[in-house]
Amino acid sequence: MPPIPGPENQSKVTIHFQPQDRLTRVPAGSSLFNAANWIGLAIDSTCGGMGTCGKCRVRLQVGETSITQADRKVFSNEDLEAGWRLSCRAEVQTDIVCEVPRLMGNPKAAIMGFGRHVILNPNVHKVPLKLEPAALEDQRSDFERVRAALDTEGFEVVAGLAVRRQLPKTLRNADWNVTAVVVGQQLIAIEPGDTSERTFGVSFDIGTTTVVGLLINLANGAPVAAKSVLNGQASFGADVIARISHTMMNEGGLKQLTDRIIGSLNEVLAGLLAEGQVAAEEVYEVVVAGNATMTHLLLGLDPEAIGVEPFIPVADDLFQVRAAELGLTVHPEAPVVILPHIGAYVGADLVAGILATGIQQKPGLRLLVDVGTNGEIILGSQARTLATAAPAGPAFEGARIQDGMRAATGAIEVVKLSDAGVTLQVIGEVPPIGLCGSGLLDIVAQLRLVGLLDASGQMLTPAAAAAQVAPALAQRVILGADGVKAFILAYPHESGTGKALQLTQRDVRELQFAKGAIAGGIAVLMNELGVTADDLEEIYLAGSFGSYINPLSARVIGLVPAVPVERIKAVGNSAGEGARIALVSFRERSTAQAIPQLVEYVELSGRADFNDAFIEVLAFPPLAELALQPA
Ligand code: FES
Repeated sequence: MPPIPGPENQSKVTIHFQPQDRLTRVPAGSSLFNAANWIGLAIDSTCGGMGTCGKCRVRLQVGETSITQADRKVFSNEDLEAGWRLSCRAEVQTDIVCEVPRLMGNPKAAIMGFGRHVILNPNVHKVPLKLEPAALEDQRSDFERVRAALDTEGFEVVAGLAVRRQLPKTLRNADWNVTAVVVGQQLIAIEPGDTSERTFGVSFDIGTTTVVGLLINLANGAPVAAKSVLNGQASFGADVIARISHTMMNEGGLKQLTDRIIGSLNEVLAGLLAEGQVAAEEVYEVVVAGNATMTHLLLGLDPEAIGVEPFIPVADDLFQVRAAELGLTVHPEAPVVILPHIGAYVGADLVAGILATGIQQKPGLRLLVDVGTNGEIILGSQARTLATAAPAGPAFEGARIQDGMRAATGAIEVVKLSDAGVTLQVIGEVPPIGLCGSGLLDIVAQLRLVGLLDASGQMLTPAAAAAQVAPALAQRVILGADGVKAFILAYPHESGTGKALQLTQRDVRELQFAKGAIAGGIAVLMNELGVTADDLEEIYLAGSFGSYINPLSARVIGLVPAVPVERIKAVGNSAGEGARIALVSFRERSTAQAIPQLVEYVELSGRADFNDAFIEVLAFPPLAELALQPA
């Protein structure tokens, strides 16, 4: 893949914010407002950086920016002379030192993501208006009357045809008392009376397997309802390559997949609206995170070039489309915002994950790993952040594992070994029928900890096991009919299938290859930054699978670098959380928009050092290094 323009490829300037004493380097041409946002420094604003509220004042102390029309509206000549500028309009071309006035009062904020303080400023504003009725002495058009009233409230708006059609009847029937619904700079609706308390949005995380939606009250940022369904495309293949192939091999295949995902989103919406007792027309904005293939299929974009070298998406920028164009059952004029991608295999889901964890804003070094068929890896800090995708294969999803299965009812998700035998935790608390990814990691880590697996991944023979481990465990080590060693997790009478459930030597090898790809990718990024495990402050395990991984197991098998286990955190659905943050905060959305420029993409295919690292990390770390005991 060609290099994504990153910090190395663009000229950058240094901004020093005072009196907070915060320094940052940003691409030339960025606004001072965005530069502050990207390092989590709040500048006053009610318009979210649109240049209309006049609140985002800063004073230049060193360096210059051009004076804009918006500046002239707000500042006197003396103010401009003294260096005052609207930071959202001030594009930086040289190094700058500027003063940021302290915020007047505390902005409304909520803790979101992972301990992040997110200032609530949605892109949706509901503005109650008491308009002067039209009269012979005041013959302004309906729209001009609304536009002028909004202007005095600090909103500069334009209006499309749909809302213009609504205006005459709504204004007169409501006796000129209405609520304007403004999204960004677009007036999308006029509602009778004061409906300002009813403002909702929906964030989606579209996974290849599962679609998750959150209905959010945009007045306070609180979630109202959550719902997930299986991605309706699942019957066309389990992974993105199968879905892309379907569009290539079948006429009408792309439309079929687009229809399916829209169907899934509408199914989620129906559930959310019913649970939250919210009307579809009260949802004014939708934000979507998902991998590049999923967002291509959602938009009906041909994903073929993503599937083959050199892996090129149709587009990777933040993009928005009207809900009615997609056929989503929310307000028809509501924008559906698709977060940007970093690369064909480091998609908007990871951009949302970076936003939720704030990796690129923090001074300390952090690692984010979304474990799956395609392991997505982010490593960095505010100084420099790298991203890559490692081809782990489907072992983590239970494929190519003898008794493997997806994380569904009957899957073993947690395994503990002790001298007394095996303890299993099964999804749905039913007799086990297979082993899902987190259970697979657990059993391999536990076998390693009790000494049934050596560092190379070799399982002890039954005879060696009898000599070295407790009888209750040793008796479970068998030689299968084909001579392959295996460990019995559940005997036939305990299993829901009536057959023994086993972990075989081959399964251990499959897991080693899968973890080798991810650990190898991490090693390449660490070398690139010149850092070691000791430099890592935290490791985040993300995604629908990563969240269920026992950090101890991840550490024991060497999936992640050697840091104390308490620094490894399962962060849940970071993509969904990032989408929610981008929905409730327009500032954070602009940060998400900038993330692809702030993060450098590292392509692993064809890199000799990745192949070397992969071979090196196939073995398990020595137990002595772990300083761990079996849990
Ligand atoms: S004018 Fe509102 S943020 Fe700049």
